[in-house]
Amino acid sequence: MTESQNPCALRESADVIVLGAGPAGLVLGNLLHAAGIDCVLLERASRTHVQTRARAGFLAPDTGRILDRHGLADGLHRRGLRHGTCEFRTEDGRFRLDYGSLGQGGQHHVYPQQNLVTDLLTHYLDRGGRIRFQTEALAVRDADGTRPYVTTREPDGRPTRWSARYVAGCDGRHGAARRSLPPGAVRHHHDHGVTWLGLLAEAPPSLDAVGYAVHDRGFAGHMARTADVTRYYLQWQRGIPADAWPEQRIWDELDVRMRAADHGPLHRGTLRERGIFDLTCDVIEPLRHGSLFLAGDAASLLAPAAAKGANLAVLEAEILAGALTDALTRGDTAGLDRYSDQCLAHIWRAQEFTGWMTRLLHTAPDGDQDAGSFFHAALRRSRLASLRTSRIHQEWFAENYVGV
Ligand code: APR
Repeated sequence: MTESQNPCALRESADVIVLGAGPAGLVLGNLLHAAGIDCVLLERASRTHVQTRARAGFLAPDTGRILDRHGLADGLHRRGLRHGTCEFRTEDGRFRLDYGSLGQGGQHHVYPQQNLVTDLLTHYLDRGGRIRFQTEALAVRDADGTRPYVTTREPDGRPTRWSARYVAGCDGRHGAARRSLPPGAVRHHHDHGVTWLGLLAEAPPSLDAVGYAVHDRGFAGHMARTADVTRYYLQWQRGIPADAWPEQRIWDELDVRMRAADHGPLHRGTLRERGIFDLTCDVIEPLRHGSLFLAGDAASLLAPAAAKGANLAVLEAEILAGALTDALTRGDTAGLDRYSDQCLAHIWRAQEFTGWMTRLLHTAPDGDQDAGSFFHAALRRSRLASLRTSRIHQEWFAENYVGV
């Protein structure tokens, strides 16, 4: 058989194959490489695409500490902003929570995810880390044995087979790791029934806090990204395309829901990006299938209401890196055995708080029989009143809001 006829003529190997170069894969790759583990990252997209994809931007104090611990936080400290206040705007007026100084809280770092990804990638490559861009993982095979392998499509279209001792699936919600799970894997799925229109505005932030506007017409959110760019969200009717409204109407609606007439005007600017986000979530259980381990979005999707996704991804990557290093350098596999239970405890905690935030901020979900009903609105109002007036409730919020 000639090479072009053989479906997997090219063979390569590493001790650990990491699928995906998002926050999870890049933290894992950096930590493994620093520990002297032979690893390779396989990334479907180009380097430019990975470094410019706008995603989340809110990093919890624990995430900063993890990055610090491994010398990965230089950019975060140089260019990130600190943030410790959120402002709720409701029919009963507005109130601020200085969560950064409450209880066990702490301040967020506001640092666009593409900057973090760029830092992590540069750090990895500068130290000789191996990565293949435009290399799509197709499937993970033989994960139940001691020599799993990954089939890939190389940039030139050639199929390749990568064999390893372990495979880390950090390739997100639509990646090959999820597609390769055995029948025993369970995906717990939940739809919060809410949709957001996400907007990236070329405009300076309009308030010096994260803004959560709770309004009968639906939620509106305000999140600073940089001095010139602000993220806005509008609760949106599911099924309506992102470009259905002209810019003027979007800004007018943001004004109404953010109650600009009472609390000051919003800084308007060109809307550079629009995206639809259905607030759905899921958890894969367990996170280990033989030699295949899931981390980040591949392990669990979170609705963006509490900005936990990137933070969980970094935490799981650190835990997995330690466990893989112990296994490969000392033959100690206890960490790998614990990995799934340990991460699932964090994941379910984050899912619970995200669900609570989602119920706090939105009018009744699409399809809810109580939609628009007095009952749903009254519960929401009571929850907000408790958060406004109860110190214990505020401390609970602060701890959960910044923690993972
Ligand atoms: N083969 C190789 N790479 C793949 C494949 C594949 N089949 N499928 C996806 N990828 C790559 C994507 O191109 C992406 O770069 O995997 C990477 C996954 O990165 P993220 O989606 O950023 O996921 P993760 O690293 O788990 O980060 C978690 O932070 O902002 C949050 O929700 C956001 O949420 C992302 C998160």
